[in-house]
Amino acid sequence: MSVLFEPYRIRNLEIRNRFVRSATYDGYAEPNGHVSEGQIKLYSDLAEGGVGLIIAGIAYVHHSGQISPFQNSIAGDAVISSFEKLTSIVHERGAKIALQLFHGGREANYVKIKNNLPLAPSIIENDPYYLGQHQAITEKEIWEIIHSFGDGAKRAKEAGFDAVQLHGAHAYLLSQFLSTYTNRRQDQWGGNLENRLRLHLEIYRDIRKKVGKDYPVFIKLGVEDGLLGGLEFNEGKQAAKLLADFGFDSLEISQGLRGKRYIGTEYKTNINSINKEAYYRNWCREIKNSTDIPIMMVGGLRSFSLMQEIVENEEADLVSICRPLICEPGLINAWNTNPTKKAKCMSCNKCVDAIFKGKSIQCKHGFEK
Ligand SMILES: Cc1cc2nc3c(=O)[nH]c(=O)nc-3n(C[C@H](O)[C@H](O)[C@H](O)COP(=O)(O)O)c2cc1C
Repeated sequence: MSVLFEPYRIRNLEIRNRFVRSATYDGYAEPNGHVSEGQIKLYSDLAEGGVGLIIAGIAYVHHSGQISPFQNSIAGDAVISSFEKLTSIVHERGAKIALQLFHGGREANYVKIKNNLPLAPSIIENDPYYLGQHQAITEKEIWEIIHSFGDGAKRAKEAGFDAVQLHGAHAYLLSQFLSTYTNRRQDQWGGNLENRLRLHLEIYRDIRKKVGKDYPVFIKLGVEDGLLGGLEFNEGKQAAKLLADFGFDSLEISQGLRGKRYIGTEYKTNINSINKEAYYRNWCREIKNSTDIPIMMVGGLRSFSLMQEIVENEEADLVSICRPLICEPGLINAWNTNPTKKAKCMSCNKCVDAIFKGKSIQCKHGFEK
């Protein structure tokens, strides 16, 4: 049996194989943030299709962090029962499920707060990478958001999620704090790496206090920005080590702030040969060598043979996939029958274009089981 189909354990979480569905915003949530019937079907198909662990897409923990009207919320107790239905359907089909806890920071353009402006670490004028208006978050607001992450994790546990994952990557609040490009603060939340990582650590502390010592708490971490003048890998790698030492149970390695579309983003396109796959492999390998906690590799993984080599070489413990599972939710079972099967995903990013236009995820190859 391939190592990819061997079970894997993180704390008390037993996963049936090494395949993770990387968090994927789907644009299917009800307008009040509850789980929709469309999402029940989508997650049920994924679990049925053989993936070991599903990381449910961005759920905002606080109303100031919302980026879309069709996004799931974990910001209040009213959503718990709708998530219970989702987690039990996934469990009945043998998969495990984690919730990704999210705050959009300056990109949260769906906010309904004072001045209606999103919260950012600092105000950056004329930033070519983000033209939206924003306001600098205050100390009091920072603590409110920290506690909302802890409350969100507690609700996720109550709703039957097996773990939570902090969204600490891409363009959003935690990346904005980690990057000197977006964080120009001169207080305890800005400046050196320790200060820029303080938000992550305080969130971890609050979550741990509210979910207990055995509940798995993961983070998806952006270890290098996709633009010049931002976070560089040598600091990203140190951040990964500090987070692992602090107690996070797993790291999924991705990029930080986005640069030019699509080359400077986490969803790179034209993955049409094996040497373009696994585009964060070098970062992942280095971090795996310098930490003791389970590492998830994400980014352009398409070939079974390559993923097998990565796990056998101990460059990662788990392999995490997004776009190919939008196209074919049954891909993992298909690989179990035929490991040489090619994934249909062309990385054309029509799925990304759809969500940026405010639609739900779509694939030009259709949603195939
Ligand atoms: C439609 C779409 C939605 C995504 N939503 C999320 C999300 O909610 N949270 C997240 O951390 N990453 C999100 N991502 C990024 C993916 O999880 C993943 O890191 C990236 O697409 C690279 O993996 P892939 O080559 O397997 O697609 C999204 C990507 C796509 C294409």
